[in-house]
Amino acid sequence: MISTGERVQASVGSLLSVRDLSIAYPSQAGPVPAVRGVTFDVAEGEILGLAGESGCGKSTIAHALLRLLPPDARVTGQVLLNGEDVLTMKFGRLRAVRWDEASIVFQGAMHSMNPVQRVGDQIVEAVRLHRPATNERQGQAQVGELLERVGLPARRARDYPHELSGGQRQRAMIAMALACEPKLLIADEPTTALDVMVQAQVLSLLKELQRELKLGLIFITHDLSVLVELCDRIAVMYAGRIVEEGPAEAIFERPAHPYSWGLSGSFPRIGDPEYRRAPGGLPGDPPDPQHLPTGCPFHPRCPRAFEPCPDTDPPMYPAEHGGFAACLLLDSKLNPEGARA
Ligand SMILES: Nc1ncnc2c1ncn2[C@@H]1O[C@H](COP(=O)(O)OP(=O)(O)OP(=O)(O)O)[C@@H](O)[C@H]1O
Ligand SMILES: [Mg+2]
Repeated sequence: MISTGERVQASVGSLLSVRDLSIAYPSQAGPVPAVRGVTFDVAEGEILGLAGESGCGKSTIAHALLRLLPPDARVTGQVLLNGEDVLTMKFGRLRAVRWDEASIVFQGAMHSMNPVQRVGDQIVEAVRLHRPATNERQGQAQVGELLERVGLPARRARDYPHELSGGQRQRAMIAMALACEPKLLIADEPTTALDVMVQAQVLSLLKELQRELKLGLIFITHDLSVLVELCDRIAVMYAGRIVEEGPAEAIFERPAHPYSWGLSGSFPRIGDPEYRRAPGGLPGDPPDPQHLPTGCPFHPRCPRAFEPCPDTDPPMYPAEHGGFAACLLLDSKLNPEGARA
């Protein structure tokens, strides 16, 4: 078992350090706890994948990282970007940090461009907001370079968003996010609305840019198989918590948490030494955040739930893959046989 404090100590010097982040949205029926005590790090040049079913809190985290949540959201914890807490910095400083140090490609970004403004002008606007000394000609030249960098001809700067295909628009959004050369890029389901071929192209573009620019990248999706291709590490979320984190390939191939077994489509069978792919996926639905089950929030859906699960909310345990998982199967006192017995 490992405490949050020890994990904090282990990761000083990250580009991004998120510490014990909790977020609740107000509602008529009381606060909705969307994110509950989340801790993770992203190093310079590292790709972290954030996975989990719809409603588990992925976009809420993404927005919190740049303080883009609705003003009535209740946020506690720390979001340290290069050691500075985004959650408490003055607004002037926050404006400088957005785009320049960290930027975000929003979920549904395909529809978030201004439909009546040329693509190039929208990108120039972002650049000039942060580099006011940039003149029109320099700005347009920079836009041309940026578009070419994401695989679009510079002349497409004169197009309106509706003249671009979905994949091209997504590339333009990535160009815009990179306009001020941030060190951290947050990409919230940037490929979900694209067909499989275009999705693969946008993914390989992101990977190429990430390498070239040594970007820290947080890539969010519900699809674990997309993350394994792209990421160095994966954090799996369930009901507002990170329930497993570790090296990408190992988590996909040998997940330690039964929820990740389900997400990756691989369930171990009792008595079967090897994992088998289970096309059926996960039974049941994610819980309502306002009415979380007692103990481990995953226990009502878990194929391996045992006696302590309804009463004990599991801490993070070290897992075989070198990361951590919040599952009582990994507690050698409660389950001496080990997770895969
Ligand atoms: N503005 C809001 N007001 C109230 N509740 C919200 C708001 N935004 C999100 N929520 C709730 O917070 C929880 C987390 O939502 P979030 O959008 O972060 O999930 P997600 O993991 O990004 O899901 P998806 O995969 O569907 O994008 C959900 O229960 C959602 O209903
Ligand atoms: Mg989302």
